Amino acid sequence: MSSKTIIITGASAGIGRAIGEMLVQDDHHLYLLARRTDKIEAWIDQIPPSKIKATVEIHQIDVSRQEDVDSFFDQLVSEGASINVLINNAGFAAGKDPVKLATMQDWQSMMQTNFFGAFWVAKRTLPLMPKHAGSRIINVGSIAGLQGYPGGGGYCASKFALKAFSQTLRLELLEDGIGVTSIEPGLVETEFSMVRLGDEQKAKDVYQGMKPLTAKDIASMIYFVTNLPEHVNVESLVTMPMAQASVFHVQRK
Ligand SMILES: NC(=O)c1ccc[n+]([C@@H]2O[C@H](COP(=O)([O-])OP(=O)(O)OC[C@H]3O[C@@H](n4cnc5c(N)ncnc54)[C@H](OP(=O)(O)O)[C@@H]3O)[C@@H](O)[C@H]2O)c1
Repeated sequence: MSSKTIIITGASAGIGRAIGEMLVQDDHHLYLLARRTDKIEAWIDQIPPSKIKATVEIHQIDVSRQEDVDSFFDQLVSEGASINVLINNAGFAAGKDPVKLATMQDWQSMMQTNFFGAFWVAKRTLPLMPKHAGSRIINVGSIAGLQGYPGGGGYCASKFALKAFSQTLRLELLEDGIGVTSIEPGLVETEFSMVRLGDEQKAKDVYQGMKPLTAKDIASMIYFVTNLPEHVNVESLVTMPMAQASVFHVQRK
């Protein structure tokens, strides 16, 4: 497995943490980004030092704030850093209000993080990526970027936008030999539903009577894409639990 320099956004919890936990055990240089850097430090502390092969830098970045992203990348540029893989994972959903009740603030905040954040991080990463050398951008979308559902309007819009961005980027980067992959999970049990619904019982109910994906399940796919041979690009990976067949079809006991 070749040594790479990798950026992971949203590395403090859920899928971002799980892929961080895997990649830290290989010979890479990792930039781990999130707002709650104490959470990143805590999960790294739980891994036996003998298993950690990567070198790690932790940065407190809110991807919805262009100034945070710019100051991080200005530093990378001044250091002459080169990035092989970007894992654009930071994201969230705010509530499940139907359009009639939705607020501009919720919709703008989802777009700002899930779409504009991913766009700007990718835009700043691109000049640092070697061309025709297996570099790749992995955008964590969702099946909510493939299918709308009642109460999901703002979140779906942000993930549809991310999907369109990934498709465009894939075409634009063809000449540079840089890959773009969309990771599109269904139900994954992480902090996601707690963040979305703000209530422990409601968050639990999302996965009631069925076996959801784990963060590790999706991290394994991202790990697979990260380590693909230089000439291989996976365009998208739509992954759902066995008990789910669409946004609307979930088999519960
Ligand atoms: N769970 C699911 O069912 C599911 C399904 C499909 C797609 N996804 C997508 O998978 C990705 C990861 O979600 P998850 O399930 O792992 O949720 P999670 O457990 O809530 O983790 C979300 C991560 O994103 C980070 N984040 C959120 N807003 C951020 C911001 N403004 N700036 C920087 N980091 C930010 C959080 O870090 P801090 O709070 O520390 O900043 C956290 O590390 C998201 O893009 C989500 O939309 C999730």
